[in-house]
Amino acid sequence: MNRMLAAMAATGLLWAVLAAAQDAPKPDLARGEQLAKQVCAACHGADGNSVAPTNPKLSGQHAGYVYKQLANFKQQGGKKAARENAIMAGMVAILSDSDMRALAAYYAAQSLRPAVASDKDLAAKGQKLWRGGIAEKRVAACAGCHGPDGAGIPGQYPRLAGQFAEYVDAQLKLFRAGARANDPNGMMRGVVARMSDEEIEAVAEYAAGLR
Ligand code: HEC
Ligand code: HEC
Repeated sequence: MNRMLAAMAATGLLWAVLAAAQDAPKPDLARGEQLAKQVCAACHGADGNSVAPTNPKLSGQHAGYVYKQLANFKQQGGKKAARENAIMAGMVAILSDSDMRALAAYYAAQSLRPAVASDKDLAAKGQKLWRGGIAEKRVAACAGCHGPDGAGIPGQYPRLAGQFAEYVDAQLKLFRAGARANDPNGMMRGVVARMSDEEIEAVAEYAAGLR
């Protein structure tokens, strides 16, 4: 390759790198850690391993999902938030877009200390539902989207393995009531619409014990 062509190729590469950096600026992990420890730790723990079961564990959760939730908690231009929660609305009000990306990247990099399933019989009922759904009620298997082991899929489905049963139970009931409605294409509302309280409790217990 002659000099001229080599220089053009290098410039092209540089532009491609710069453009990619502009599309997705690298999240500032140090900023994420600082915010997590100063603002969020009281409820979610310093590394996202919450201890109170009403506060979800965030450690090891997919960054794209955490970012989406933070953005959904925000009230934009006088409209109500896509995911309504009084506590979290107050928390995200002060966060910029890059703060939310930094926090999401920070939590995704922490290791989860998972919750446990304490009621084995209930978890066994939940396992059937998780893996096979409920055919006669047309309830889809959770495993189909969240994975057999509850690890989810980055960019699509949140991780549920090791999340508190109480939190999972509460979210499923919010989806069923339509009070949480930020699921793309109503995917979760469709799944839980025909589930009973007992079925929800069982599957939540199973999720807590998944590894
Ligand atoms: C005063 C307690 C409190 C503080 C402080 C707090 N949160 Fe939360 N957070 C909650 C509660 C409670 C929920 C569950 C909301 C619900 O039921 O929908 C939640 C939910 C979340 C979720 C959704 C998780 C999921 O699995 O869908 C994210 C993400 C989150 N918080 C991030 C943060 C971040 C980041 C901060 C700091 C900027 C923060 N929280 C500060 C209490 C708190
Ligand atoms: C068709 C795919 C699909 C199926 C099947 C499905 N889910 Fe989900 N689920 C999703 C998506 C997508 C989200 C993320 C919603 C959002 O962006 O807020 C989600 C979110 C959730 C959440 C909220 C997580 C959090 O941290 O707040 C819970 C809990 C949940 N699903 C439980 C279940 C259970 C239990 C089942 C089986 C009964 C199930 N899901 C079946 C797609 C699915």
